[in-house]
Amino acid sequence: MSSDRPIRRIAINTGGGDAPGLNAVIRAATLAALHNGWEVLGIRRGYMGILEREVDGEPGVIPLTAHAVRGITHLGGTILGTTTRGNPFGLEVRQPDGTWGTMDRSGEIVGRFREMEIDALVAIGGDGSLNIAHALHEKGLPVIGVPKTIDNDLRATDVTFGFATAVEVATDAIGRLHSTAEAHQRVMVVQLMGRHTGWIALESGVAGGADVILVPEVPYSIELIAEKVRERDASGRRFSIVVVAEGARPRGGEPSYADPTGRYGGIADRIAAELAEATGKETRSMVLGHMQRGGSPIASDRNLALRFGAAAVRCIQEGALGTMVALQGQSIRAVPLKEAVGDIKRIEPDNDMIITARQLGISFGD
Ligand code: F6P
Repeated sequence: MSSDRPIRRIAINTGGGDAPGLNAVIRAATLAALHNGWEVLGIRRGYMGILEREVDGEPGVIPLTAHAVRGITHLGGTILGTTTRGNPFGLEVRQPDGTWGTMDRSGEIVGRFREMEIDALVAIGGDGSLNIAHALHEKGLPVIGVPKTIDNDLRATDVTFGFATAVEVATDAIGRLHSTAEAHQRVMVVQLMGRHTGWIALESGVAGGADVILVPEVPYSIELIAEKVRERDASGRRFSIVVVAEGARPRGGEPSYADPTGRYGGIADRIAAELAEATGKETRSMVLGHMQRGGSPIASDRNLALRFGAAAVRCIQEGALGTMVALQGQSIRAVPLKEAVGDIKRIEPDNDMIITARQLGISFGD
């Protein structure tokens, strides 16, 4: 893992929730690295494959050849598998007394990379995974991060891959809800992903013609949403579409949680019930959920992912380790990993999409 000898072997892993475009990054990074004459290894299920040697009865580390990455650009998911429970600094382990504890196995990862003579890791992940990658880099692992998340909440990059596809899926769903909403004169409430930020809700809500968009960054008042619905009714538009990010919360209140582990959920049901009560209208709620993460990436996500994968290899070549590839304007740049992690990118009140939405008459419930 020393930077003074030529690169011979690199590894790639994918961590956290899947996002459309992961396979495109894997393909581009692999082909670019093979082109340089390097060997490429894929680590399965985050860091589990390097810690356990075997994962689900298969080798934890697999060779990524040109054949292995053939025809995967358009495929959702990740050929390497992923996990949201694989933080090597705090892996869940069953204690002898049957209770669960955590164990730090990060040192083992650095050791395994040395043993296997892997010169650099391309870590593809969102905020959580890139935080882990950054911490491993501080421990001596040469890392390049690639920003992934449908939530688009990573700083230092204009956009993450996977986001555009999620917006497309959500926009289509909102469009389809219009039919039933209008035919039955109902209020339809649709819950989209976005725990801490409402990027998907904002962009798909505007594109899909929502009447109300609720995001975590703008706490709402149910009375103001009801007022908007009543106003529409009075003007002859007897249906309304409410788009809500899963992490949205009422003024002075908390987000809705699906369970005690902190998973978000339930906000659409809650708003639909409260709006039925406040307006006397028939309301329905739906949760789009993982539909937003699955399936084939749209062209712009494929291209962004391919660009990120190729750029990650250029970074390794140039010795720009401890960085994350980022889209800034039209260019792909390498930014220090520590600038990219730590805090997330929230929607600011003066965001142009927010201003545009307000000019279109869309309510944020505030
Ligand atoms: O980070 C992406 C995300 O899609 C969030 O918006 C969502 O809350 C979360 O993943 C759900 O993850 P899972 O249900 O797979 O644990």
